[in-house]
Order: sequence, then C-alpha cells, then structure tokens
Amino acid sequence: MPFPYNDIVLEHFRNPRNVGSLEHPDGKATEGSPACGDMVTVYLQVEPDTKKITDIKFESYGCASNIATGSIITELAKGKTIEEAKKITWKEASEALGGLPAIKAHCSVLAVEGLRSAIQNYEEKQGLAVSKDPTTE
Ligand code: FES
Ligand code: FES
Repeated sequence: MPFPYNDIVLEHFRNPRNVGSLEHPDGKATEGSPACGDMVTVYLQVEPDTKKITDIKFESYGCASNIATGSIITELAKGKTIEEAKKITWKEASEALGGLPAIKAHCSVLAVEGLRSAIQNYEEKQGLAVSKDPTTE
C-alpha cells in the first residue's frame, strides 16, 4: 500500500499550528469518533463586538489526518467571524491540505466537527442556535 499522506499533510502533522488549550474559552467542544475512540477538542476566543475568532487552539488524540486537519482548520478559522467560520467545510480543509486519503476522511471530518461544535457551544452560551452538520457545503 503506498504511503497515504502528501507533504502538506505531513508538515502540519509534524508541526501542527495552534496546538494547546485556552484557559477561559468563549466556546469549547470535544468530539469523539465511535470508529476509533479518538477525540479532538477545540477552544475558541471570540471578540464580543466583531464576533471575530481572535484565538483558537486544539488538542488532538487522533491520527495524522486528524492532527493535520485540526491544524489547518484553526489556521482557516483564525481571524474569521463566527458566521464565516461556520462555513468552513471538510472539503475546504482537505483542499488546503492538498488532499486527504479517503480511508482517513472520517478522521478529518472529526476535526471539522470539533470546530462546528465549539462554535455551537459559543452560540449556546450567547443564547443563539447553530447548525453543525460538517457535510453541509
Ligand atoms: Fe482516530 Fe484517525 S484513526 S482520528
Ligand atoms: Fe477514528 Fe477515523 S478512524 S476517526
């Protein structure tokens, strides 16, 4: 079987951006995969007036695909407004990583779900509602 990861994925796996936690997050969520039992947690800091994501961190207990996707979605989301960040899709993350192996697609969907759920948690805290289907284009 050929090695499944391209150089961009490997670079993000080896040097993931925005790894860690936030002490007082405005939004936080953990998503787990029934398939492998792995988990990812996403933390958000949101500027109250502009609703921009000023800081975002993630912790992954998953595989290379999950870590690389966590890294890229935090890069994609940072500086975006909550409304913009909601629109980040798995497809966009996968494209930014130069493509992910199909066999590992659910691991990267898990990372996108983590972002969606952290946004949902933020909106719940604000008394708002949100749709978090990561397959929605
Ligand atoms: Fe568990 Fe990929 S094998 S997140
Ligand atoms: Fe765990 Fe892919 S095998 S999410």
